[in-house]
Amino acid sequence: AIERTLSILKPDATRRNLTGKINALFEEAGLRIVAQKRIQLTEATAGQFYAVHKERPFYGSLVASMISAPVVVQVLEGENAVLAHRGVMGATDPKKAEPHTVRAQFAESIEANSVHGSDSLENAATEIAFFFAGTEILP
Ligand code: CMP
Repeated sequence: AIERTLSILKPDATRRNLTGKINALFEEAGLRIVAQKRIQLTEATAGQFYAVHKERPFYGSLVASMISAPVVVQVLEGENAVLAHRGVMGATDPKKAEPHTVRAQFAESIEANSVHGSDSLENAATEIAFFFAGTEILP
């Protein structure tokens, strides 16, 4: 089925001017960018977005890295988009990611791993609504 997923190009990617290269990989995988904006996250918004990880040892460092430069938030649409996007991103840890993936090619570390993607259709709906109004999504 056609799905939508929330994608974030993280500060390590915007800092190194990699947004175009990463978007090309998404588009080559059949994903369509139906909404996109470059924003500066605050400690409050990044903390709220990653609230599910609040008790993890990497939470503080993750929030700090997510506010260290602008991010690009996007809605990607396509067949099986949640899984398709996860496939192009590769494993969270770039050392474990398949060679052709975004994280294998571009990630600096398990934390500065260049991209975020929703991990389920249900979370995708929540994460899309966190950043986008319905009127900003233009398929
Ligand atoms: P993301 O897919 O955005 O979801 C949670 C983020 O936490 C993850 O990508 C990484 O940026 C970061 N992170 C840092 N350390 C770890 C870790 N040990 N395991 C999982 N995620 C981590």
